[in-house]
Amino acid sequence: MARIGVLTGGGDCPGLNAVIRAVVRKGVADGHELVGYRYGWAGLLERDAEPLTVESTKGILPRGGTILGSSRTNPYKKDGGGTEAVRAGMAAFDVDVLVPIGGEDTLGVAARLAADGVPVVGVPKTIDNDLKGTDYTFGFQTAVQIATDAVDRLHTTAESHNRVMVLEVMGRHAGFIAAHAGMAGGGDVILVPERPFDIEVVCDHLRRRHAHGRTFSIVVVSEGAVPQEGTLTTSGEAGRLDAFGHERLGGIAVTLESEIERRTGYETRMTILGHVQRGGTPTAFDRVLATRFGVAAAEAVTAQQSGVMVALRGTDIVTVPISEALGDPKTLDDKFFADAEVFFG
Ligand code: F6P
Repeated sequence: MARIGVLTGGGDCPGLNAVIRAVVRKGVADGHELVGYRYGWAGLLERDAEPLTVESTKGILPRGGTILGSSRTNPYKKDGGGTEAVRAGMAAFDVDVLVPIGGEDTLGVAARLAADGVPVVGVPKTIDNDLKGTDYTFGFQTAVQIATDAVDRLHTTAESHNRVMVLEVMGRHAGFIAAHAGMAGGGDVILVPERPFDIEVVCDHLRRRHAHGRTFSIVVVSEGAVPQEGTLTTSGEAGRLDAFGHERLGGIAVTLESEIERRTGYETRMTILGHVQRGGTPTAFDRVLATRFGVAAAEAVTAQQSGVMVALRGTDIVTVPISEALGDPKTLDDKFFADAEVFFG
């Protein structure tokens, strides 16, 4: 029997509650007790936690967000933080093993703790799908569905007004959300961080469509997309960093709106989808993936594994060293983008 401390760190993601529920259900069935730390690593440093029981996690499977709250707290960057402070936060609630649910930053902390001898089983999450070590993360499919719905809605109003619509989606430095939603929604141009774009080529695609009689177009752009060097000056959120040193992205659609309109003469409007992509209920796929991750995490605790995270490989849930998820992010492969490009212009 172990006392398991669960926490959710980083940006929230549809499916977090499904993981929490599953860890609790399987953990209790295997004879463990569970505690939930509030607001990620902050809960350990501030000794802020609550018991997690089958009763207290009832009804949360379809709920977006996280009942535990989340934050981008880095325990190694806080005064009085570090491994010993985390250990003290565990001891305060008699916790033996941690199950942190998070992205690269949260898992980076988890790996460091494991290296210092703290028992840890990680659960990978991000809507961006940019974590190595797992084929997919839960939350991604929900974000893609929301973005695809947005493309569909923009299509009808674009057609009514003969406009170019630019939709900016999340994804940080990976173009998975843009490429998937763009392909699913039939976008006419898709811009991703992996392929710096030439604004003139973008405009040529749109001109070609119009030359073939189409009077509207949809451009799906990832928040991390960048122009080829020296081709375009962009504004945006540049320079603002979070606790893990990541730049805040967003705003490329503003530049694209004005540049496309100026260069082509086509009336253009932009939409930045933003955190809508992270809100609300997870899709069935993400609920299932999150549930299987949660069950597997509890099983890994029972098997006294540490320094591992659960992962999807093909259709199987496995455990892999947390280190597999760290380092460079996973990015869109060339073939996927080439398939999407078939439909440009
Ligand atoms: O990593 C998930 C993500 O939603 C990114 O797609 C986005 O760039 C970032 O988090 C936004 O972070 P925040 O919620 O701190 O604005």
